[in-house]
Amino acid sequence: MTDPKLKEAVLNGFAEKYGDAEGVSCYFAPGRVNLIGEHTDYNGGHVFPCALTIGTYGAARRRDDRKLRLCSLNVGGGKVVETSLDELTPSPEAGWTNYPKGVIWAFEGRGMKLPTGFDLVITGNIPNGSGLSSSASLEVLTGFILRDLYGFEVSNVELAQIGQYSENNYNGMNCGIMDQFASAMGKADNAIFLDTADLSYEYAPIALDGMKIVIANTNKKHKLTDSQYNARRAACEQALAELQQKVDIKGLGDLTPEQFEAVKDAIPDEDRRRKAHHAVYENARTIEAVSALKAGDIRRFGELMRQSHESLRDDYDVTGVELDTLAETAWTVPGVIGSRMTGGGFGGCTVSIVEDGAIDAFRDKVGGVYRKKIGYDADFYIVSIGGGPEKL
Ligand code: GLA
Repeated sequence: MTDPKLKEAVLNGFAEKYGDAEGVSCYFAPGRVNLIGEHTDYNGGHVFPCALTIGTYGAARRRDDRKLRLCSLNVGGGKVVETSLDELTPSPEAGWTNYPKGVIWAFEGRGMKLPTGFDLVITGNIPNGSGLSSSASLEVLTGFILRDLYGFEVSNVELAQIGQYSENNYNGMNCGIMDQFASAMGKADNAIFLDTADLSYEYAPIALDGMKIVIANTNKKHKLTDSQYNARRAACEQALAELQQKVDIKGLGDLTPEQFEAVKDAIPDEDRRRKAHHAVYENARTIEAVSALKAGDIRRFGELMRQSHESLRDDYDVTGVELDTLAETAWTVPGVIGSRMTGGGFGGCTVSIVEDGAIDAFRDKVGGVYRKKIGYDADFYIVSIGGGPEKL
């Protein structure tokens, strides 16, 4: 369910910034939360994310010239950035506009040249820097808008691929496909069991009887996410190259834990071996978690969420005191089925499955311990699983 107030806000914003809202169309693309399968998507492993009902809203209209006018009501103080189709080069000063510009650049690189520019206003309700994929939702939103405004023939899976490509090559963040795929292919009340080795996927209904998905935001401000993230990815790539001396695999996701144990000595560096260990075991956990869910064994799913967090903390080194405090405290609250960090890590959010009757206790206990230990508040949101991008 999208929020009619935000649709109204982008339409009003559009009229205010550009004079009128004649012939304007409105669009939405969701953010995501990943239930399990972290740092597996650039290793050819499995992920299990779902789209959320929160996301990014856009109002857009074609122009007759090559100008692009871009405005966010959330960042940059509502300032209109004027640029053009002839200025598609990334720059730090361009800030958030590097995302829509990157997507236009990626479309053009695939032969889908825009005949004219357009005017755009965006807003959204994904908390800033929360790791719930505000950038992926903006990329998917932009691609969806381009398809609609100019009639390009491109599927939603391709919108995800274009989004990832632009983020990798225009914005310098070597992310995998999970976030863009979850946004572009979301389905209400379902998580997506995606094999990133070949993009085959299956929807799995999430019918949480008497439970909710609760997100806790660390509100951590300074994160070195991109550089650390790229370093993890590089470590996995090196570990893969070392393993390929011994076994014929395309990605770490091709190995079962048993197969990995038999060949892991091909990775001489202990730290790198731990990183690869995480990728292999996390992939196996994700496959098992989805089977457990299908079998109605939500408790096992919750245990695997905990193991996932422990592995991200101990082997992959991407949690930090804030995420650890949230997850570890959650594990002590009766009625919490599972809790783990979600997304890239280093800050951002945890995702927890909590029984309805335990939600208040969860918020009190986890919030209280967090404030005491970290010195500022965490935020809590009960979320629903929404659909993919749409024209409103
Ligand atoms: C970020 C990236 C994703 C994925 C996760 C970790 O969200 O954008 O591609 O790698 O981190 O699972």
